[in-house]
Amino acid sequence: MARSCLTIILAAGQGTRMKSALPKVLHPVAGLPMAAHVAATAHAAGSEAVAVVVGHGGGDVRKALSGMLDGASFHEQTQQLGTAHAVLAAGDAIAKGYDDVLVMFGDTPLVRPEVMQEARNKLAEGASVVVVGFRPDDPSGYGRLIENDGALIAIREHRDASDEEKKITLCNGGIMAFRGGRVLDLLGAVGNDNAKGEYYMTDAVEIARTNGGKVVAIEAAVEDVVGVNTRRDLAAVEAIWQRRARGALLDAGVTMTAPDTVFLHHDTKIAPDVAIEPNVVFGPGVEVRSGARIRSFSHLEGSLVGEGAEVGPFARLRPGAQLAEKAKVGNFCEVKKAEIGEGAKVNHLTYVGDAVIGAHANIGAGTITCNYDGYNKHLTEIGANAFVGSNSALVAPVKIGDNAYISSGSVVTDEVPEDAVAFGRARQVNKEGLAPRLRARFKAAREAKKQDEKG
Ligand code: UD1
Ligand code: CA
Repeated sequence: MARSCLTIILAAGQGTRMKSALPKVLHPVAGLPMAAHVAATAHAAGSEAVAVVVGHGGGDVRKALSGMLDGASFHEQTQQLGTAHAVLAAGDAIAKGYDDVLVMFGDTPLVRPEVMQEARNKLAEGASVVVVGFRPDDPSGYGRLIENDGALIAIREHRDASDEEKKITLCNGGIMAFRGGRVLDLLGAVGNDNAKGEYYMTDAVEIARTNGGKVVAIEAAVEDVVGVNTRRDLAAVEAIWQRRARGALLDAGVTMTAPDTVFLHHDTKIAPDVAIEPNVVFGPGVEVRSGARIRSFSHLEGSLVGEGAEVGPFARLRPGAQLAEKAKVGNFCEVKKAEIGEGAKVNHLTYVGDAVIGAHANIGAGTITCNYDGYNKHLTEIGANAFVGSNSALVAPVKIGDNAYISSGSVVTDEVPEDAVAFGRARQVNKEGLAPRLRARFKAAREAKKQDEKG
């Protein structure tokens, strides 16, 4: 039977070094708050319940996260008296009774589910406490894992460590896992007799040992446990996240000629056999289907790019852009809340907003859907195989029928029936021989002006 599991996310820290009005754990990585990354990892490791420990007045954190974390409970730790004290703030949640209790930090968003799964496996094998260790380049500042005969016996915080203990390179990554039935007793027994005067959850290691409990350390990669204290850290964590996500896409069959220049959102969905050229940015809510090509310098959000479709170079897809199979949106085009039909082409310098464009329609260069009157948005409907001549303004609400033809430079305000040709522009007039006379007049005017200035 599957073991039940609660994850406690500690998020009470002030994060003052971020120099931000936004609470630290709400700062986004790949567009998702750090604490939500942590919750997603816990979920992926099979944890069905999440308890978030917020600081005094943690209303912002609660408000922002409760929409994202289904069924999470929030617990206030009014004073930050240490990590053990923080976990106990979620005592109500723990008391519901879980086989496994995981403790993660809201400012440590890159932990992979595999790490949490491994910790849970150790619990299943009978450990009371599992510590996630790692070996940083510079161990100073971290708690050290004190081992004896290969067994973990204690964790010593840097400030409390002897010179001898400070030489230990295996450090505490912060994350711990507890047997659910033991966690309240273990952490309740923690005191605050240390350099910081805090209740350290790491002291549970020694307490469990002396009570005959089994304590186990596992080792994670440095990148799993990297925490965020400053904006520099945040940028570094974003870079790691992006590198991992690009790597996963390459492994899944996506072509990227310069992956380091492609920026993904946490929810970006890209199918195998999509090609992404250099310098492309994905905002929230984008799906790209197989065989599509996203060309350089394109920016996409809230969009669906259908099979074999092509976007860019220099295209902007805004929320609600839906490109059917083999549709094309080319350079300097903006598409918002619009369906572009199968094989339809919007290739040059065009704005399409609030529109439905039929299959194989051709939208000429410089076409604008005038969708907004300053108060309301209106729909433009363009039929299948319609041809919209360059530099046309389509004043919505307006309909253009299937196979209709709009002459270049038209301002279209009325419905154009199927198979019709619309001329929405002034008729051309030629005046024979007028050009030389005009030139003579303009030249004379210039000479007169020069004379004036001299005299
Ligand atoms: C902690 C570990 C240390 C480990 C390091 C890894 C303890 C006692 N120490 O130290 O062994 O090497 O992480 O980064 O666990 N928090 C609360 N309420 C509190 C105190 C902390 O919510 O009262 C939260 C913080 O916001 C933070 C996390 O718990 O997200 C860790 O606390 P922090 O004070 O940063 O611990 P470290 O000194 O980094
Ligand atoms: Ca820390």
